[in-house]
Amino acid sequence: MKISSLGYVGVGGPRAGEWAKFGPEILGTPLWTEAAVEGVYLRLDERAYRIAVHPAARDELQYVGWEVSGPAALEEAAADLGRAGLAAARGSADECRRRAVEGLVVFRDPWGLRHELFYGQRSLLSFRPTRDISGFVTGGLGMGHVVLVLPELAAATRFFVDTFGFRLSDFIDLPFPLAFFHCNPRHHTLAVGQMGPMVGLHHVMLEVKDLNDVGTTYELCKKSGVPLSMDLGRHSNDRMLSFYVRTPGGFEIEYGWGGLLIDDAAWQVLRLPKPSYWGHELVNPAPPTTIYPVG
Ligand SMILES: [Fe+2]
Repeated sequence: MKISSLGYVGVGGPRAGEWAKFGPEILGTPLWTEAAVEGVYLRLDERAYRIAVHPAARDELQYVGWEVSGPAALEEAAADLGRAGLAAARGSADECRRRAVEGLVVFRDPWGLRHELFYGQRSLLSFRPTRDISGFVTGGLGMGHVVLVLPELAAATRFFVDTFGFRLSDFIDLPFPLAFFHCNPRHHTLAVGQMGPMVGLHHVMLEVKDLNDVGTTYELCKKSGVPLSMDLGRHSNDRMLSFYVRTPGGFEIEYGWGGLLIDDAAWQVLRLPKPSYWGHELVNPAPPTTIYPVG
């Protein structure tokens, strides 16, 4: 199937309400307040929302929304999922309304995480960050990237290449084995890491347009006492200059600038020994609370 980009991410947790301040005041993301489902909805661009945070008993990834180009691509994807032996359900009119999309197909991957394919997400036509930052790199590159933890890296790599139609970007061995995938020029839209028999969400990356936006947000986190999980650094594979904050949702947001774009005609898949040229010092060694033992 042909996925264009990462469209939205839905998470849940007991501290969902805190995002109403954390998003606008720290990340610079305005809120969308007309949603049909209870939660805090963060905007990164003209789209109605990109991150949805719902009240829940525990910190958890609830769904990952993958954008396809339109109804034909959605039909094709549903057929591909059927051929791959996955139970894919059409989203009802009410489910589409709740996600603010025109068309929706929902399924679970072999490790139980919920994925949603969609087209026709609502646009609000205008966007303005809530802090003095230049804004987020989205458009055809999607909202950023998501890093999942799954218990079988080799099987997951086959699954996302064969079933999702993603292309391999590279592998990194440390701090745990990771595989990186792209579906548009953004170096990776998805990465999968293996941390023993665990499954869940590690982090979501948001890319800003100006290096100073990383700097001012970093400074703001330090001054406001927002806990960092990894300090400033530059990644070895996608060249992202970034830091990681521990969000009120228990997972991390990587706030970065300068991500590499891939030209598939010339790309070569490498295995890299470490994730960063410099920095990314681990400040909080506790794993995200959105990662759980399998089963
Ligand atoms: Fe990342």
